[in-house]
Amino acid sequence: MTRSARWADCPILPALRRDQTPVKTPPADFIRANTAIAAPVHLPEIRLHLADEALSLWHKTENELGLLGLPPPFWAFAWAGGQGLARHILDFPELVKGRSVLDFGTGSGVVAIAAALAGARQPVGAIDVDPWSVVAAGLNARLNGVDIDVCARDIIGHDEGWDVVLAGDVFYDKAMTDRVLPWLEALAGRGAQVIVGDPGRSYCPRDRLRLEATYCVPVTRALEDADVKTTSVWRVIAPEQLCRGV
Ligand SMILES: C[S@@+](CC[C@H](N)C(=O)[O-])C[C@H]1O[C@@H](n2cnc3c(N)ncnc32)[C@H](O)[C@@H]1O
Repeated sequence: MTRSARWADCPILPALRRDQTPVKTPPADFIRANTAIAAPVHLPEIRLHLADEALSLWHKTENELGLLGLPPPFWAFAWAGGQGLARHILDFPELVKGRSVLDFGTGSGVVAIAAALAGARQPVGAIDVDPWSVVAAGLNARLNGVDIDVCARDIIGHDEGWDVVLAGDVFYDKAMTDRVLPWLEALAGRGAQVIVGDPGRSYCPRDRLRLEATYCVPVTRALEDADVKTTSVWRVIAPEQLCRGV
C-alpha cells in the first residue's frame, strides 16, 4: 500500500501498525531539526516542538534515518482532543492539583505538561506505545520546565493506582476504542477520575461518557480538513454508575 493510501484509511491517521518493528532510541536532534517551537493557539501557556505538515515529516523520518514501518508522527502535533483536555485542566487545576496523574497516549506530552503546570504531583506519568513520543514529550517537558515520567509501553489493562487518568484524542480507531474503553471504565469503577478529550471522532463512545465541557479548538486544515474543531471533555463513568445515574 502506498503511504498516501495508508493515510487515507483512517479518519485522522491510520492506526498504528500492529506489527511495528522496534526502533532504537529516536534521535532528539532529528526532532529539534524538523519541528519548530510554538504554542498551540488554544494553549498559549505551553510550548511544543511542532510540525506543520505530517506526511512529509513521516517520509523524511523514514528516508533520512533509514527506518521503515514507523507509526505516523502523532508526537509532532497537539491534537484537538488533547488541546481541549489540556485547556480544561489548566482552567480547572483542582482536577489534578496534588494528585498522581497518568496521561495515556501522550503523543507530544501536551496533556501531561498541562497537568504538571496545573499542579499535579510530579513527575506526571505519560505513556505512549511510540518511542518517538517518549523523546518528543521529554523535550517538550523540558521546554516547559516540568517533570514528566514518559515511557513507551502498552499499559492498557494495568492499574498503577493513579488518582487521575487523562487521555487526549484516543478514540480515532475502532480497535483502539474497543481496548481502551473497558480499561478506562474499570479505572473509573475503582475510583480514579478518568477524563478524556475528543473532537467528535467517529469511535468516541459518547453514550458511555458524561459531558464536562466543550471548547472550539483551532486546528491545522492539512490534518483535520477544518480550521476549528468543537472538542468535548468527557468524564468516563463506570457502566454500573452510569445506569444508576450517579
Ligand atoms: C491522536 S494521538 C493523541 C496524542 C495526544 N494525546 C494529543 O492529544 O495530542 C494518539 C496517541 O495514542 C498513542 N497510542 C496508540 N495506541 C496506544 C496504546 N495502546 N497505548 C498507549 N498509547 C497509544 C499513539 O501513539 C498516539 O501518540
